[in-house]
Amino acid sequence: MPSNQSGDAKRTSLHGFWSSRMVFILAVTGSAVGLGNIWKFPYIAGQNGGGAFVLVYLFCVVLIGMPVMMSEILIGRRGRRNPVTTMALLGEEEGGSRHWQWVGGMGVLAGILILSYYSVIAGWTLGYIVKSAAGAFTGASAELIGAEFGAFVGDWRQVVLVHSLFMGLTVFVVARGVERGLEQAVKIMVPALLLLLLILLGYSMTSGHFGEGVAFMFTPDFSKLTWNSVLVALGHAFFTLSLGMGAIMAYGAYLSDETSITESSIAVVIADTFIALLAGLVIFPLVFANGLNPASGPGLVFQTLPLAFGQMPGGAFFSTIFFILLSFAAWTSALGLMEPAVAWVVEHLNRTRAQAAVMIGSLIWAIGLGSALSTNVLSNFRFLINVDTNGDGIMDAKGTIFDNIDYLTSNIMLPLGGLLIVVFAGWVMCRNSTADELGGAGASFKIWRFLARYLAPMGILFVFMKAIGILDWIVALFG
Ligand code: TRP
Repeated sequence: MPSNQSGDAKRTSLHGFWSSRMVFILAVTGSAVGLGNIWKFPYIAGQNGGGAFVLVYLFCVVLIGMPVMMSEILIGRRGRRNPVTTMALLGEEEGGSRHWQWVGGMGVLAGILILSYYSVIAGWTLGYIVKSAAGAFTGASAELIGAEFGAFVGDWRQVVLVHSLFMGLTVFVVARGVERGLEQAVKIMVPALLLLLLILLGYSMTSGHFGEGVAFMFTPDFSKLTWNSVLVALGHAFFTLSLGMGAIMAYGAYLSDETSITESSIAVVIADTFIALLAGLVIFPLVFANGLNPASGPGLVFQTLPLAFGQMPGGAFFSTIFFILLSFAAWTSALGLMEPAVAWVVEHLNRTRAQAAVMIGSLIWAIGLGSALSTNVLSNFRFLINVDTNGDGIMDAKGTIFDNIDYLTSNIMLPLGGLLIVVFAGWVMCRNSTADELGGAGASFKIWRFLARYLAPMGILFVFMKAIGILDWIVALFG
């Protein structure tokens, strides 16, 4: 089949282009490296038994995350519009159906839902900047730090305040456009975060429990692995790489035609995975050194790191810097989470970027109140999914609003979005169109196409059906 879009008729971006390949890689890395790497990865690895989970996660990142990322960028660059319009345009051009726009629509919705609770956690990090600077953790015991965390998230006024502050900051930047200030910030902040993690790694290596931490992360114990934890690993691979919801597609729309999609994707995947593993190597030795529970959930980083900092010389200073950097990492991710919705409002409803940012930001803020109140006023309002509240591996309660939104987006919407995106790129788009975007039909194209057509979709479907129990049901039916 010939390519439907001839070279000289290429669409152009409505929002300008990234100034260089480096800036594109930094922007995508900025969206990928966030709370997912430092806050979420260690606690879900802890909840799902460590080693075996980490191994499954790495497989998911390389065999599924990588081809999906390449698919999102190539679709975005070819469509050059917001994800909804891009999927409609390409759907029509390549597959004769505009219905593919619903994939873009689900992505816009997923971004809004994720940012609603992401902003709450990012707000916690803002609160912890102030606490660190005030020396609240200096010399404090594990009990004291745990109590401090409980009191903070238990006070709805403080949590709503910091959630509002973070959304305000995000809207402020999005309203001004994806401008130089942010590119500059990312250039400084990503290396600075890395440097600080390396310093902390040095500290955790001397904690006397480094070996225990390494063993927890890298010794696979498959008896602890359930199909639900495989689904969590897959969902996290999407979450950490910002995939499955059109954010990378939106960024791809501003990418020049010359830049290699394969090389850029490899760079981002390596950087993101490296930072997540580094965070685990910092946190788990400290968890074991202080007799904490690796499965203690979302509060993990807010308790282990302050504890470690509290015992370091200059700890208040380092702790302050650390939470500032973590806030920056969250902030650059938040911009990516809003981009599909904002680009859609700008292009579709003819609003200015500032109007679009305020509209979408207000909506996200309001939905986020549900998550902000999940650790206090609404902590007993529980429904739908089952969770383990005390880290003993037993699902002992229903989830809060926060737990449910997190589960719905990470474990259902992102993998489903990723599945549809990769099927679209692998099966619906003409071979020539994708080869054109991926720099010709060479070896890397062939590997991508194999992964995108077979391995990734089958892997996602299998994990899905297994986790939901459909596969067992089919087996039972024929068995
Ligand atoms: N990748 C981000 C993190 O690890 C979170 C995230 C998920 C995201 N989906 C996104 C960021 C889409 C930007 C765009 O923290």
